[in-house]
Amino acid sequence: MKVRLAPSILSADPISLLQAVRLVEGLGADLIHVDIMDGHFVPNLTFGPGLVSALKKHTGLPIEVHLMVDDPSWAVPLFLKAGADWVSFHVEASPHVQAILQQVKDAGKKAGLAVNPGTSLLLLNEILPELDFVLIMCVNPGWGSQAFLPRCRDKVQRMSRWLKAQNLDIPLAVDGGVKADNAEELVRDGADMLVVGSAIFNSPDPGEAFLKIKQAAERGLKS
Ligand code: DX5
Ligand code: ZN
Repeated sequence: MKVRLAPSILSADPISLLQAVRLVEGLGADLIHVDIMDGHFVPNLTFGPGLVSALKKHTGLPIEVHLMVDDPSWAVPLFLKAGADWVSFHVEASPHVQAILQQVKDAGKKAGLAVNPGTSLLLLNEILPELDFVLIMCVNPGWGSQAFLPRCRDKVQRMSRWLKAQNLDIPLAVDGGVKADNAEELVRDGADMLVVGSAIFNSPDPGEAFLKIKQAAERGLKS
């Protein structure tokens, strides 16, 4: 088993995004996490499909698009066309999650559901067998650099147990507040994909920060 590392470029310098992507690609990142915010589902605006298609031309890494948008059915086709390889959206954002997951899967891409800190995991229970990955938010989405919400660890542990109990071998991703200090315990809790933004890109030495998180994650796997 391995832990996937998915650097979030939200905290990278927007003027030098390509350098940020090349740095983590060279150090062994597994995916590039691109946060899409619509100003409605979350009170912030970020990137659009144009950025995803531009990045696609310059990196061989899979692009994971995290849609923090209301009713993602309009956004999914745009980002699939732009080249997203993994697409997650929020269980809170639509009453039609199964139909939207199917849109992604019909395009041959990986479909995941994200869940906010205050939302019960029970909302995911029915649909779990149809997911290609789960993304548990450990901050309220909208910004990078927020503090990790400690209660999230229990959620990761519970989701990990559910996946094992149902023999579902899909990545369990954690997003928000992940850093070298908590990566080891999160992997021990059952996370096998870590989304990391500010802990890499706001660090004075992003390369070193990436490697420290990678080592912490590997320790979590061994212990
Ligand atoms: C938050 C985003 C995260 C964010 C994580 O709304 O979904 O992906 O970039 O940033 P850090 O790692 O700084 O919490
Ligand atoms: Zn994200």
